[in-house]
Amino acid sequence: MNPFTGVGVGLRRPHLEQVAALTESPVPFWEIAPENVVGQGGSRHRQVMKILERDPVITHGLSMSMGGFDEWERDVLDNLRGFLTTTRSPWHSEHLCWTSYGGATTHELLPMPFTRESVSHTVARARQMQAELPVPFLFENVSYYAELGAAEMSEKQFFAEVLEGADCGWLLDINNLYVNSRNHGFDAKEWLEGMPLQRVQQMHIAGHTWFEEDQLIIDTHGAAVIDPVIELMAWVLPRIGRPVPVLLERDTDIPTLEELLAERESIQKAYDAAFAPVPILGVGALRD
Ligand SMILES: [Fe+2]
Repeated sequence: MNPFTGVGVGLRRPHLEQVAALTESPVPFWEIAPENVVGQGGSRHRQVMKILERDPVITHGLSMSMGGFDEWERDVLDNLRGFLTTTRSPWHSEHLCWTSYGGATTHELLPMPFTRESVSHTVARARQMQAELPVPFLFENVSYYAELGAAEMSEKQFFAEVLEGADCGWLLDINNLYVNSRNHGFDAKEWLEGMPLQRVQQMHIAGHTWFEEDQLIIDTHGAAVIDPVIELMAWVLPRIGRPVPVLLERDTDIPTLEELLAERESIQKAYDAAFAPVPILGVGALRD
């Protein structure tokens, strides 16, 4: 059976000891950032390695600054390739954004300028990255709060052109799309219309925080996923046409493992229902 389907969970530091002590995985798969493992040591590292050996894992990168200009160092690429081989991850993803400039890391996912030059630049970087990796490369759509410079196209057109130009897969973060739709005032379902959904290999789902006084939603990953985001996931899954894996992200205000697994379970129910056949009403049902 393909383990990379259903709803997985991001593996987080507060849960490592508890997860490593289990006899079997409580989730279909985990997601893990190579940056949090490669080059580390100590008991936490041993716990991660035990989990990686036992359970299916998908990798998700945080620091390659795909839209930036900083060259990737040879040893960083070699370590990443080795890690992907060790984990047997089916693909590797990064955000379509930039995170560093001139060697300085911001630790923020900063938006790209929506311009032709920016498309060409990012496509070239993605093709360069793909050539280094032993598995397919995916771009994730990010949440953004302001446009960088004068846009020559919409965010939607920009993202679609980069995917097509790079000929890469798509990690569809459904919460990022929802957050953008609320902050920038567009319809998330209309945004998805005409997008290359056949490129979606994985989805992310997460919670966010609503700041009333600023009329702004921030993609905090610090709360439970709200129903409209789960409904959007369930709406898009049949349109992708394949049971692509969905990953529950939680990065701040992290609950107990039991609470996180209970949330995963409820999202899994919505996931399963999205693929359930529509019941056909019998004659008796019509008579009632
Ligand atoms: Fe995400």
